Amino acid sequence: MSAIIARAHSNIALIKYWGKRAEGLKLPLNGSLSLTLDQLYTDTRVSTWQGRADRLMLNGQAAPPLAEARVQAFLTRMRQIWGLTGFLQVDSVNHVPTAAGLASSASAFAALALAASHFWGLNLGREDLSRLAREGSGSACRSVYGGFAEWLPGVSADGADSYAVALPYQLPVVMAVLVLQASAKKTPSGEGMARTVATSPLYPGWLETVQADLQTLKAALAAGDLQTVGETMEHNALAMHASALAARPAVLYWQPESVALIQHIWALRAEGHACWLTMDAGPNVKVLLPAGAEKTVEALRSHPAVQELILCRPGPAAHLLASE
Ligand code: PMV
Repeated sequence: MSAIIARAHSNIALIKYWGKRAEGLKLPLNGSLSLTLDQLYTDTRVSTWQGRADRLMLNGQAAPPLAEARVQAFLTRMRQIWGLTGFLQVDSVNHVPTAAGLASSASAFAALALAASHFWGLNLGREDLSRLAREGSGSACRSVYGGFAEWLPGVSADGADSYAVALPYQLPVVMAVLVLQASAKKTPSGEGMARTVATSPLYPGWLETVQADLQTLKAALAAGDLQTVGETMEHNALAMHASALAARPAVLYWQPESVALIQHIWALRAEGHACWLTMDAGPNVKVLLPAGAEKTVEALRSHPAVQELILCRPGPAAHLLASE
């Protein structure tokens, strides 16, 4: 076998991961819950590389040094754990219908974990794969699965009990990713959460609220209660951003266009549309809504701040595409 190609989809957290108890192993301070999306994914091909270090190509071009270093560290960790040798060439292509900063480290590291583990003949179960992907990027541990997934934070120092599991719920929902006109200078998620944990007086409040939100949202998923899922998701995202805003210096991901859309979504809800928002470490807004709610989708798309609307259904688990 000379190459393996794997695909993993992005996931959006309904209950956010925000804060680590251990940096290197990417162990979280709280549990989180996500939906994997069909329209946003990464394809990653790994093959042998005869050079003196692993090499990363991103969307057909030599990757920036920082991105390549992160992949090299990840593969070096794999070599250490399983006693492997040899460097890899990694060709990673993000399939995102725009260049608007949606390329995600979650889909990238889930795809790399799957491709590299197969390339090296490791027969990893889903939980082992999830643990491994987590060390690349925390949220990647959830992209191993399709549909809804929960990341169990764990308590052990070695991360053995910190991985995601699939949640068997099927809700007729879609997620509209609203890509905004805004171009923002970004604080990377890792930096934003570290600063929040270290300096925000609201962080203890976040840890309390996220526990309760996780239980409420899981119960609502099990009951098929979309309204409670949506309300809890929105509250959780706003609480995360509030904790970040109280960091020193403040971490603010919102642009004026984000706020305009938040208010637009609230106005639509007041008119009877079922739609709830969430946001991550960037200015774009994601909206959860029932499948088939075309009028709501059009009302979102027609807002002047929306450059592009990507309508996503629940996506599949990470999977192999080819071995050559
Ligand atoms: O895994 P990271 O470092 O990309 O962090 C993800 C952080 C959030 O997107 C804000 C929340 C989440 O749970 O995905």
